[in-house]
Amino acid sequence: MFESLQAASADAILGLIAEHKNDTRPEKIDLGVGVYRTAAGETPVLEVVKRAEQILIDTQDSKSYIGTAGAADFNAAMQALTFGDAAPDDRLVTIQTPGGSGSLRVAAGMIMRASPDAVVWASEPTWANHAPLLGGAGLKLKPYPYYDTENHVIKIDEMLATLSAAPAGDVVLLHACCHNPSGLDPSQDECKAIADVIVERGLLPFIDMAYQGFADNLDDDAFLIRHMAGRVPEMIVATSCSKNFGLYRDRVGTLSFLASDSDARDIVSSQVNNLVRTIYSVPPDHGAAVVSLILHDDELCKAWMIELEEMRERVREMKILLSDALAEQVSDYDFSHIARARGMFCFLGISAQQVARLKKEFGVYMVDSSRINVAGITPDNVSYLAASIAATLGSE
Ligand code: LMR
Repeated sequence: MFESLQAASADAILGLIAEHKNDTRPEKIDLGVGVYRTAAGETPVLEVVKRAEQILIDTQDSKSYIGTAGAADFNAAMQALTFGDAAPDDRLVTIQTPGGSGSLRVAAGMIMRASPDAVVWASEPTWANHAPLLGGAGLKLKPYPYYDTENHVIKIDEMLATLSAAPAGDVVLLHACCHNPSGLDPSQDECKAIADVIVERGLLPFIDMAYQGFADNLDDDAFLIRHMAGRVPEMIVATSCSKNFGLYRDRVGTLSFLASDSDARDIVSSQVNNLVRTIYSVPPDHGAAVVSLILHDDELCKAWMIELEEMRERVREMKILLSDALAEQVSDYDFSHIARARGMFCFLGISAQQVARLKKEFGVYMVDSSRINVAGITPDNVSYLAASIAATLGSE
């Protein structure tokens, strides 16, 4: 059977991890996969996570299965973190999922069950795995204009015009904050305009929040979700604890549905639990148990917010550092947009050939689109990085 298969190509983002690891040049820089790094280039376990894990080791008395929906205490805490008090509890259902990707995959399965012909409109560009992941579940995707590559702004008018022409019942995939890959988020007024179009056209918002806390703060980063929840009858929200709790490999996320009333919510809840059973049966527990302990304990929660703020500030500072270093080393290109991006990512705005040259000649790794993860920048490597970028400009 397997002779009919051909090798799949390496993942555009995850493939860079191995490539960078195998590079023996000491000056190499990894601006690829979206993981946070300290100024020492490490991705350590958060202190607060270590503390909660110790509590878990001391107190956990069973490794028996949890249900398809995961742990109720985790789901309640995450629902509050996501929605605040923006939506009535009796219209909401939240389940624990294996990371944000697991959440997106279950969401796709639910859309396939409820409305298989619905088109999912996604920003152009969007996270490189959105189309493979959602398309792999059978959904059809179409792009809406988003990133203006010349001026480094959101094409908000074109986006709204495209969505205004989408058929009722279609799905609009939105990033809650820290848009991946562009780092450009709509303003609060633009979020309201997006919600207006979604309500007018009878579209279903599907919001992916993988970076809550990495732009401004936990509440403001959830503005789009909370505003939308007050406007629409139905909505889907996927969240991830990979970045803001640093729990990448433990796979922690949630999937929430806002339904039009409590009866509809109960039906959605039964369907999603049934669907989960057909995919992975029950979600992994450890990371979610850690998050639940943190969110239910005032002291741990405060400690977490301090660590989250440190991560947020570091990525903000590194964008300014790179933007300033490039302003010093390059006179005929404007890189000031880097400092305006939110979260871990932005586009450098160079060609795929220049990206390839940066990798080959300078050991600087980034996604082909020139998306950079600014957490790979440090005060020690920024000059080398800016000089490497400067050396490749003008070359094709
Ligand atoms: C990224 O965009 O780099 C992260 O979300 C990691 C991933 O799975 O792609």
